[in-house]
This record gives sequence, structure tokens and C-alpha cells, in this order.
Amino acid sequence: MIRLGVNIDHVATLRNARGEFHPDPVIAAKFVKKSGADSITIHLREDRRHINDNDVKKICSIKNLPVNLEVSTNPEIIKIALKIKPNFICIVPENRKEITTEGGLNLEKNKKLIKKIISKFKKKNIRTSLFINPSLKDIKISKKLGTDCVEIHTGRLANLIKSKKKFSNEFNRIKKCSILADNLSIEVHAGHGLDYKTSKVLSKIREIKEFNIGHYLIGESIFYGLEFVIKYFKKILRKKK
Ligand code: PXP
Repeated sequence: MIRLGVNIDHVATLRNARGEFHPDPVIAAKFVKKSGADSITIHLREDRRHINDNDVKKICSIKNLPVNLEVSTNPEIIKIALKIKPNFICIVPENRKEITTEGGLNLEKNKKLIKKIISKFKKKNIRTSLFINPSLKDIKISKKLGTDCVEIHTGRLANLIKSKKKFSNEFNRIKKCSILADNLSIEVHAGHGLDYKTSKVLSKIREIKEFNIGHYLIGESIFYGLEFVIKYFKKILRKKK
């Protein structure tokens, strides 16, 4: 069974749009757990545009809910993560102007720093992952850096599928990377831009053990939750005779 990690950053995006407390990502995390997902993903960004420090603390203290915290290599963020000790961490690149994580880490350029960060987390028994582009070279570097897992950035594949373009080359690239990583005993995850179709396509790669899905899943949840909430409001608003 492929594990499903649910990224709830955008619940915090919606809360922050009002600057108040609803919808609370802590409650969303509890719903995710109750609904059968295997883990939760949150990204504490340097600009705190969605998830904030308090959310991380509270979500990481929910019992029996594995939390995957995405972090950049920023020393302040690493310090917070080491203190809070989530179950898993995933190191991601971060660019202040990006709308979302646009690509994988530049491993070649940041080898030394990333290796040091990985060893700090491993000392605390925290599973480590690196968010990388589907590149055989990056898989080989990942092995040298001592990571437990890699998460392959699936954004390009997702865009090709959504725009109905030929995607076999990108699919094969991801498949080859997954096989190499698996042979090197690195656990393979996939994430970014995944919807029903792209997830189904990628689920054919048996080496991928975990999918991390956020934006589309939260968007779909709005559609599937609307009927219940509207009916509930109608019930409240029914005039009493
Ligand atoms: N995995 C990682 C490492 C990410 O940075 C993101 C996006 O923040 C996701 C998965 C989820 O991507 P999406 O929101 O497009 O499903």
C-alpha cells in the first residue's frame, strides 16, 4: 500500500486570509488523521506565509499522527525543527518570491550544508528526506549525503499531464530515478502538483512508497464538504413556527 501524506499548509493560508483563527490547521490535522491518511505535512516557511511556529508545536504534539515538517536550510528554521522534533523532516529549497516550491534542491551547490543538517536530524532519530528533481545524479549525491529518503518533485510531470502533452519521457525519468534510489536503499517519495490522474499514473512506479499531496486535495475537499455545510446552515436558518 502506498502511504498518503496530506499537506495542510493551505488550511493555514485560508485562516491567514482573515487574520483570525478559522479554519484551524490543528483541527485539520486531526481530521486528516481520522480520515485515514498516513501522515501530515506542514512547511514552516521563512516568511511564515501559512503555517506558523505555534501551529508546528501544536500539530507535532498530536498523539499518533506522524508529522513530516518541510524545512529550508535556513539556520533559524533548522533550530526550531531540532527543538520541536517532528517525526520526519524534508529539506526543500526556498525562494522568497515563489508561489510554491518550484523545483528540487541544488544538491551540488549545497552538499556540505545539507550533509551537516541531515546528520543533526539523524542524531535525534528523525527520518530525513530531500526534495529533489528527477535526476540520477541527484540520487547518487543524495546517497552520499546519507539521507533516509528522497522526495521526487513531480511538478513537471503533473503540468504535462494537465496540459494533455506527451509525458512518457518525464515519467520514465522519474521511474529510473526511483529504481536507482530503491537499489541504493533510499526510500522514494513523490510530491508536487499531484491530482487524481497524476497520482494514478505515478502509482504504477512500485518503488514510490509515499505520496505527499496538498493543494489539489484541499481544493477537492472544499467541493466535497460544501453540501454538508450548506445543509447544516439551512437547518440552523429554518424558521421556527
Ligand atoms: N511535497 C513537497 C516537498 C512540497 O514542497 C509540496 C508543496 O509545498 C508538496 C509536496 C505538495 O505539493 P502540492 O500542494 O502541489 O500538492
